[in-house]
Amino acid sequence: MASHAPWVNDSAFRHVYEAVRNHTLVDMMRLYELWTLVRQLGDVEGDFLEVGVWRGGSGCLMAMADQRKGRSVFLADTFSGVVKAGTHDTSYSGGEHADTGVDLVVGLAERCQVADKVRVLAGMFPESNADRVSDKLALVHIDVDVFKSALDVLLWATPRLVRGGVVVFDDYGFYGCEGVTRMVNEFVTQNQGYRFVHNLNGHAIMIKVADDGE
Ligand SMILES: C[S@@+](CC[C@H](N)C(=O)[O-])C[C@H]1O[C@@H](n2cnc3c(N)ncnc32)[C@H](O)[C@@H]1O
Repeated sequence: MASHAPWVNDSAFRHVYEAVRNHTLVDMMRLYELWTLVRQLGDVEGDFLEVGVWRGGSGCLMAMADQRKGRSVFLADTFSGVVKAGTHDTSYSGGEHADTGVDLVVGLAERCQVADKVRVLAGMFPESNADRVSDKLALVHIDVDVFKSALDVLLWATPRLVRGGVVVFDDYGFYGCEGVTRMVNEFVTQNQGYRFVHNLNGHAIMIKVADDGE
């Protein structure tokens, strides 16, 4: 049994965690994983994109963890709940997590002192707002709960992901999110140029190691 749990005693992380914990559905261990990845991306160019923001907790944590000057953190959500639920999705039917609003996310970003780098995008992504996101991405956090939404975001984002850039999938392996697990598994078996790892914490992580077509 492993017992190493650095998220418990990392004071910089704990400070950020306390600031966002009431605005997120993501647990401390997954937040620490996002924190750790962001801290390693200081020398990787490109902006951050999160699709599936809800009340802004994980997105603002990514913005607070970031130490690279000039980076933007795009936070995209319908703000009217989950969309595109389909036959691969075992527990979602659409409209879940609608109990949020742009003002909640903007308010959190202001309190966390990251409003200068956070750009909140309201609408279904990528159909809405994709033209407002830059074409170089260092980190993409996909937390949209269902197969088709996750796939559409991934297919839009991967050509814009720089080498060394990371995609973090929330919902992977969760009971009720079988659609996301299936989509990720299909993508990684059909596409080359990525390192892939997952654990039992509900995250899967994909790192781009070769440019498209290489
Ligand atoms: C589980 S919540 C996100 C949780 C959030 N990351 C946190 O820190 O608590 C999933 C969100 O995905 C959003 N969503 C799902 N599909 C979407 C899409 N295609 N475009 C924009 N938002 C989407 C829903 O509106 C919902 O707020």
